Amino acid sequence: MSLVTCVLTMLSLLVGDLNIYPPLVLAPMAGITNHACRWMCKQSGGCGLVGTEMVSAYALRHGHRRTREMLDWVEDERPVSVQIFGGSPEIVAEGARIVEEAGADVIEINMGCPAPKVSKTGAGAALLKDLNSAESIITAAVRAVHTPVMVKTRKGWDESNETAVELAKITEGSGGAAVTVHGRTVVQGYSGSADWDIIRRVRGAVKIPVIGNGDVRTPEDARRMFDETGCDGVMIGRGALGRPWIFKHVSAYLETGEVLPEPDFAERIEWARRHVRLLVECVGEERAVREMRGHIVWYIKGIPGAAGIRASIMDSRSLAEIEDILNEARGQCEPGIAQGR
Ligand SMILES: Cc1cc2nc3c(=O)[nH]c(=O)nc-3n(C[C@H](O)[C@H](O)[C@H](O)COP(=O)(O)O)c2cc1C
Repeated sequence: MSLVTCVLTMLSLLVGDLNIYPPLVLAPMAGITNHACRWMCKQSGGCGLVGTEMVSAYALRHGHRRTREMLDWVEDERPVSVQIFGGSPEIVAEGARIVEEAGADVIEINMGCPAPKVSKTGAGAALLKDLNSAESIITAAVRAVHTPVMVKTRKGWDESNETAVELAKITEGSGGAAVTVHGRTVVQGYSGSADWDIIRRVRGAVKIPVIGNGDVRTPEDARRMFDETGCDGVMIGRGALGRPWIFKHVSAYLETGEVLPEPDFAERIEWARRHVRLLVECVGEERAVREMRGHIVWYIKGIPGAAGIRASIMDSRSLAEIEDILNEARGQCEPGIAQGR
């Protein structure tokens, strides 16, 4: 690795006054990046900023209990970025104030989510069709709080309506501290591959930091994204599912060029066990068991007998059952045979 590239890729990410290092971000993922998931990524090292699940500014404003409970980070997770969505400046400003009061380090406004429950309120991806509203919302949020406000967006609505560059300029002009760009259009959903060139073009259009996002699954991918786009930070979503250690691997690779080995099967099972126990502590056994099923499936991907383990996990009703299934799975991972690296 050339020294220049090494230094460039490991500059910290400056969001407002917040120095984020390493410049690697856990993507906000609804139903996934709860406290336990964020903490697993943070604890393994290398993750500079964690993103919460998206929360409704409207529900925050109306004191919705479950929504308020989502503001549930602990000190060890910091810095934490809380993602909010809302369709009007007043609602988003109020949501931002509540999130600031709760102690968030960064507030991120969602301007890319296509889910009907979000876009039908004029929020999320709907704002890509109404950049004037997007501007009013960002301006209102920035004025309402001292905490840095970022925007997360997609390439555009579709290939003929690319808005990322314009929205990044609007974000900068409205006092936003950074912009994250997922290189897919709304219409694309998660199909095809992310267009990293849009990230490069956004980077060239604004002075605020740009966080690149889409299809980073390995340390080499992250390195390529930094190099090809010039982005200031890299956000990882699906690549971290059942692989909270990915941030440590990426940061090690960026810092030293070293490729750390993937944990073997037995280690992955132990990661899953730690994750489920933590989730039980956070949300109680019943909910943890329900929410953990998907995570365990990601952890055991590729393990011998994964299909059978998966079926048992889907039927599990208690922590004890999950522990038994994990013990059995561990037994199937004979040392030296199932290394799964
Ligand atoms: C299950 C799931 C939930 C997601 N929820 C959110 C969300 O709440 N807010 C958001 O901005 N993006 C959300 N995303 C998009 C991710 O943050 C990220 O932009 C996308 O997955 C692309 O990055 P990746 O290729 O690293 O996964 C979600 C993605 C997935 C797979």
